Amino acid sequence: MSSVNWPEKFPVLETERLLLRRVSSDDAGGLFLCYSDPEVMKFLSAPLDNEDAIEGILEEYKEGFSRGCNLIWSIVIKKTGVFAGTAGFEEFSFLDSKADIGFSLLPSHQGVGYMRETLLEIINYGFQSMNINRIQTTVVSGNASSVKLLEKLGFHREGHMKQSVFFNNSYHDELMFALLNGMQE
Ligand SMILES: CC(C)(COP(=O)(O)OP(=O)(O)OC[C@H]1O[C@@H](n2cnc3c(N)ncnc32)[C@H](O)[C@@H]1OP(=O)(O)O)[C@@H](O)C(=O)NCCC(=O)NCCS
Repeated sequence: MSSVNWPEKFPVLETERLLLRRVSSDDAGGLFLCYSDPEVMKFLSAPLDNEDAIEGILEEYKEGFSRGCNLIWSIVIKKTGVFAGTAGFEEFSFLDSKADIGFSLLPSHQGVGYMRETLLEIINYGFQSMNINRIQTTVVSGNASSVKLLEKLGFHREGHMKQSVFFNNSYHDELMFALLNGMQE
């Protein structure tokens, strides 16, 4: 029978350059920088224009683990202790052993392979330790850096959903990408 192994303690992970830890209130400033940045948000939703919304996002990320509904890591650069972004499983379908992955990096930390390093670790954790069978995500059409990253990680493009999301005053197409356990590069 398929089932997801939910960890008892929040899983702190480590890569060569990065510490992946639970989101904390200390990340409020970094999260606001990220989610208010028009470049970061270009393919996600309207950028935040007010720091008030961060409280709710922090709560969702911090408590998501305790409530068993999401597993989001803050990405911290080991050398400097600086917050670089977030990544993790935003939603689970427990009966299907399936998770939706999401990720974003502050522009000042893009282009040096941090997200690839992060996702390799998180995907490995999801497949090996949590017994997830399928990791998927939708990417808004035109989000070239995300498509490149996912394809390099072995994700397959499975479909094109026309006008499936609405933000910034228009409908956007989304591409479905997925990776099955045992099929990663
Ligand atoms: C998607 C996103 C995280 C990708 O960031 P990124 O830094 O380009 O991703 P990676 O970590 O894979 O880094 C790859 C880049 O680093 C370079 N790089 C440098 N050193 C590297 C290393 N040691 N290892 C791997 N790549 C390295 C690669 O050449 C590549 O650059 P290129 O695209 O110019 O070829 C970033 O664009 C982002 O936050 N976007 C906004 C949020 C978003 O759209 N999220 C997706 C929702 S579906």
